[in-house]
Amino acid sequence: MRKKIVAGNWKMNTTPSAGKQLAEEIASQLKDGFNADEVILCPPFTHLYQVGEEIKQNDKIFLGAQNIHTEDFGAYTGEVSAPMLKDLGVDYVIIGHSERRQYFGEDDLLLRAKVEKALEHGLKVIFCVGETEDEYNRNHSEHVVKRQVISALFTLEPEQFADVVIAYEPVWAIGTGRTATPEYAQKMHAFIRQLVVQRYGEETAQNTSILYGGSIKPNNAKDLFSQPDVDGGLVGGASLNANSFVEIVRQI
Ligand code: 13P
Repeated sequence: MRKKIVAGNWKMNTTPSAGKQLAEEIASQLKDGFNADEVILCPPFTHLYQVGEEIKQNDKIFLGAQNIHTEDFGAYTGEVSAPMLKDLGVDYVIIGHSERRQYFGEDDLLLRAKVEKALEHGLKVIFCVGETEDEYNRNHSEHVVKRQVISALFTLEPEQFADVVIAYEPVWAIGTGRTATPEYAQKMHAFIRQLVVQRYGEETAQNTSILYGGSIKPNNAKDLFSQPDVDGGLVGGASLNANSFVEIVRQI
């Protein structure tokens, strides 16, 4: 069966020393166990090594990066590649976050190349999809999410797809405090799972974790996580505080 996962996307927040302390607090609060199958911490590149050191004693807490380049090595000043992250002990990489799409112009084809590169090097992928507010208002949510999922993921072989987690993050809910209702999240998650059924079959679809992201807080996580097709969350702002993040982890 599919895994229940809570991931923290720290985005471009905290310094390395503050991030080390945050990871230490989270690991300490979770050391006696939790129900989720996996907790994933996704700090900035500069913190990965130290955060990895803080969580390595707990075999249910994993390390994630927030981006990769499409090439392994080369003259790409300022970029970081999949083999570098793998060698550092990174388990997951977030690909397709709306902030990368919006501010860095990452499109479906580039994201497909990044997904393939990550999987080639044994990194698991948290692939983000989600409609903007304008697309939501125009009733285009399903259309947009379908395009994002198909174009970046559905050329993968079934055994590659097994290492992909999908995160549904409606852009209008990110950082706004305007969380999707549990009913709306469920409807979109069920829609995404149905797309996976059509491409990879029922068994694979049932084994695919689909996380919700967008203003998850300790007081709304339980209702979201109790939806049948919501397999956990990708938490932004509330993952920057150990107490609130751990409280969210405990809602699963
Ligand atoms: P917030 O939880 O801050 O809305 O961010 C969600 C997100 O973008 C996680 O990737």
